[in-house]
Amino acid sequence: MPKILAVCGSSRKDLRLESLVALAGAAAESAGAEVRTLHLDRLELPVMVFGDEAQGSLASVREVRESAAWADGFILGTPEYHGSMSGALKNWFDYLYPELAGKFAGVLATTGGGTGDMSITAVKTCFQWCHGFVLPFHACASRAAYVDGELADDKIRERVERIGHDVARYAAAIGQAFETARGCEGVAAGVAGLH
Ligand SMILES: Cc1cc2nc3c(=O)[nH]c(=O)nc-3n(C[C@H](O)[C@H](O)[C@H](O)COP(=O)(O)O)c2cc1C
Repeated sequence: MPKILAVCGSSRKDLRLESLVALAGAAAESAGAEVRTLHLDRLELPVMVFGDEAQGSLASVREVRESAAWADGFILGTPEYHGSMSGALKNWFDYLYPELAGKFAGVLATTGGGTGDMSITAVKTCFQWCHGFVLPFHACASRAAYVDGELADDKIRERVERIGHDVARYAAAIGQAFETARGCEGVAAGVAGLH
């Protein structure tokens, strides 16, 4: 059973993003995954200071690192802020590196009125720089896609559900391939040999 961490990457309670992430999480569950959700607005996560060992013992930092280490795959949701991911989600990334390597992620975004492309690309790039693998499609919902607080666009709903299924599917496959690669010698281990 793949273990999926769904991350709600807003620094405030954001019902639209929460509902999008929950929809993908439910689809991953129906595909056989165990899903946990991390709401960054509920964590008192300080801005990461590299080399600050005291931060490592904070409950919020431990939760970030332990939940990421637990997961085989991720559903990462961000609001689009100034054409990029939220500061809260980038800060989450900054606490992590080995916990994301060889893992798989699908990305979701909400946006005021844009397409979300830049924020989605930012999340995917960041995940890849941590040596993770990303799903080659994604989903974004703008304010216009909601009616009375409910996602009213069936095409977006379908894409989000596809992402949940795919994250469950590929997290398991990529994780297995990465573990096998770790057992190889030298360059034959590829990226897994760097971890
Ligand atoms: C600091 C900040 C920057 C934002 N930048 C953008 C942006 O570049 N493009 C955009 O379409 N919406 C932008 N927004 C709107 C957010 O994407 C939107 O608030 C978020 O997706 C949550 O949706 P909601 O406010 O309808 O709940 C920004 C919001 C904030 C607070």
